Amino acid sequence: MTILLLGSGGRESAFAWKISQSPLCTKLFIAPGNAGTHAFGKNINLNPNDFEAVKNFVLKENVSFLIVGPEEPLVNGIHNFFSNDESLAHIPVIGPKKEGAILEGSKDFSKQFMERHGIPTAKSRSFTNESLTEGLAYLENHPLPVVLKADGLAAGKGVLIINNTKEAQDELRLMLGGKFGNAGSTVVIESFLSGIELSVFVLTDGKDYVILPEAKDYKRIGQGDTGLNTGGMGSVSPVPFADEAFLAKIKNNIIQPTIAGLISDQIDYTGFIFFGLIKVGNEPYVIEYNCRMGDPETESVIPRIENDLVELLQACSKKQLGNYQLSISQKSAATVMIVAGGYPGDYEKGKVISGIDNLRDSLAFHAGTALEGGQVKTNGGRVLAITSLQKDQFTALQAATADAARIYFDGKYFREDIGFDLM
Ligand code: AMP
Ligand code: GLY
Repeated sequence: MTILLLGSGGRESAFAWKISQSPLCTKLFIAPGNAGTHAFGKNINLNPNDFEAVKNFVLKENVSFLIVGPEEPLVNGIHNFFSNDESLAHIPVIGPKKEGAILEGSKDFSKQFMERHGIPTAKSRSFTNESLTEGLAYLENHPLPVVLKADGLAAGKGVLIINNTKEAQDELRLMLGGKFGNAGSTVVIESFLSGIELSVFVLTDGKDYVILPEAKDYKRIGQGDTGLNTGGMGSVSPVPFADEAFLAKIKNNIIQPTIAGLISDQIDYTGFIFFGLIKVGNEPYVIEYNCRMGDPETESVIPRIENDLVELLQACSKKQLGNYQLSISQKSAATVMIVAGGYPGDYEKGKVISGIDNLRDSLAFHAGTALEGGQVKTNGGRVLAITSLQKDQFTALQAATADAARIYFDGKYFREDIGFDLM
């Protein structure tokens, strides 16, 4: 079949790498892709948010399967667009419709969903401009730190953890006043949970589901988890502190009620659910839902899946996940993200990258790269994800970190401590 994969990050590179290994895939297009996805299929210069352009391309090339990597087209309703169009309705889409993607697209919705279905999460209340006075009063008595979240998509910047009541009140005014645009027209005020975070992924057909390998993401820019938040500086899978008993709690207290909740709310969901979790004491709580896979978690998760990914996604689209046997490698994966100097603040693009061919025990999943005049150059903040799959976590971490050092470009930076805190 002819597959179109939307997106351009390290996550999509890992997908494209795995999809290209499937005999079921006769042709793979990646839109827009990057300098690395080019090795696994054909890059197409298309904006995933321009649904008419996607439609024209799909019809022209007889695309028979659509996989959506990032959240934005899903929250904007690309799956609905396909279902509602006579010429596209027969094409399976991996990724939920708007009604499901809103679990990520609105934090207020997701908190109400969790409350309604008894899913453990931090206590919260939502406020708008009309209820600003109540919001300020609510903050007056709220324990510190307090968490303020813009309701809508804010490119990963809409969450503030604040240690001072007056500052929190000022921020609430700013957020409701438009600091994050429309995304902040509702603000969720949430209790701070103290613990260690992990990411759990499920693929569901709306009825049944499979649980993919869990991962841990490292969000801060600096060694020892310090400094500004980023899109993610590295990941590991499996997660040593997520033992069998803890994973069973996640399944029983969080995954099952989420799937049951979708069914009882009549939300027909086809695609990935990313559970952003925190372990408080020995109990899992949901920090957030995403309607897609994580990045850079995917780069560590996908290499551990032994099944044919296309077969798995096809089973999902046919609502046949109930009988699906997932086969997960016992090996450990580690991913180290190489970023541009200055990231997550301002950074330059267009730096020539060398050393990709010198990696010894890792894969290089391209993220922010572009091919220009035959040269691979940087084209984003997160540039390359270096992933190693090895017999144990320590070996994987060492191999990925050593290979990250074999890449060179002007201003290059990576964390040398990813995963070592778990050893
Ligand atoms: P989110 O965009 O919801 O993933 O939030 C970004 C990050 O903020 C999370 O990964 C956590 O590190 C942190 N965070 C969000 N909500 C809470 C909370 N209730 N307690 C503690 N940390 C939180
Ligand atoms: N790594 C976190 C995310 O994809 O949102």
